[in-house]
Amino acid sequence: MTANIRLGDDAPDFTAETTEGKINFYDYLGDGWGVLFSHPKDYTPVCTTELGTVAKLKGEFTKRNAKVIGLSVDPIDSHNGWVKDINETQHTTVNFPIIADPDRTVADLYGMIHPNADDTLTVRSVFIVGPDKKVKLTLTYPASTGRNFQEILRVIDSLQLTAGYKVSTPADWKEGEDVIIVPAVSDEEAKERFPKGFKTLKPYLRITPQPNK
Ligand code: BEZ
Repeated sequence: MTANIRLGDDAPDFTAETTEGKINFYDYLGDGWGVLFSHPKDYTPVCTTELGTVAKLKGEFTKRNAKVIGLSVDPIDSHNGWVKDINETQHTTVNFPIIADPDRTVADLYGMIHPNADDTLTVRSVFIVGPDKKVKLTLTYPASTGRNFQEILRVIDSLQLTAGYKVSTPADWKEGEDVIIVPAVSDEEAKERFPKGFKTLKPYLRITPQPNK
């Protein structure tokens, strides 16, 4: 039975074989943030570029106190051989664990197999998990389209900011840009909470500089 994981759900815990040995997901995340992402198949072109990209961004995830972990239904020997190709062709060193899930235990826990797209391979899923182990983002891409991992970093920035301040981030927002005061905050409260001031475009649309900058 495959799960349908929704925002706010507890991220299912698991213990699995990975390229860095046996890992318990919750232990691996510790008190920080997590990014669990699946790819369809080892030794395939788009996946090769994706895993190389994530390896190069490891420092950016670490800066955000976030750990990444990949997954496909290929066995560990396949992962270990393929990592060499990723390192060679993407000019990097894979520096995060990749789960080998040939019996689909984790793929089913997270609903990463979408049978009407492909009944055996995982799609390109991403789950961002907060320090409270709740799911904060889910994203699903088809096999034909490599993901934009800068977008995953951007979402982590937004999630971390909005967890600490009564703000939301607008379309295409990037770290350092103006943010939106949540409508539940009155103008009076906003004056106290946002001493840099705010612009009222509409009563429900008030813009303020990013408060922690
Ligand atoms: C790819 O990574 O290029 C790929 C993987 C599975 C199916 C189609 C494409």
